[in-house]
Amino acid sequence: MAVRNICVYPDPVLREPTEEITSFDDELAVLVEDMWETMHVYDGIGLAGPQIGVSKRIAVIEYNGEKFVLINPVIEDKEGSKTVEEGCLSFPGIYEKVDSPDKIKVRWQNEKGGHEEREIDGFLACVFSHEIDHLNGRLLIDRVSPLKRQFLKKKIAKQAKEQ
Ligand code: NI
Repeated sequence: MAVRNICVYPDPVLREPTEEITSFDDELAVLVEDMWETMHVYDGIGLAGPQIGVSKRIAVIEYNGEKFVLINPVIEDKEGSKTVEEGCLSFPGIYEKVDSPDKIKVRWQNEKGGHEEREIDGFLACVFSHEIDHLNGRLLIDRVSPLKRQFLKKKIAKQAKEQ
């Protein structure tokens, strides 16, 4: 197992198209283990492949004692909207209030290749939606107002300079 580096915005890998996963082999098992370890070290509740430079349709989520390995996830249906404060390991130190679906229906494959489907609501629906957005190159910064986006871009550039 290994802790992988987190790719931070504006790393272009966060925008790259992601590939479907078709082999449920040892290499995938290692990737999943590394993702868990990396997410725990960085104290996150979700981590998507692109965030560690892996352009594949995979994400892990751990929330309220439940763990999910989402492979090739698809949101089949969404309902309602609520405003929640979200953070992201690719935007360290940034927390923004954004709109997120209230309820979603998702299907995905687990790490063995088995098919799962579930209706999810509450904060977990936000987490699922956030991680699946990553697989489509959609980021937290895309979900705020244009003015806020401009402000955040400046803030991030300043943070990068200071490091
Ligand atoms: Ni994120």
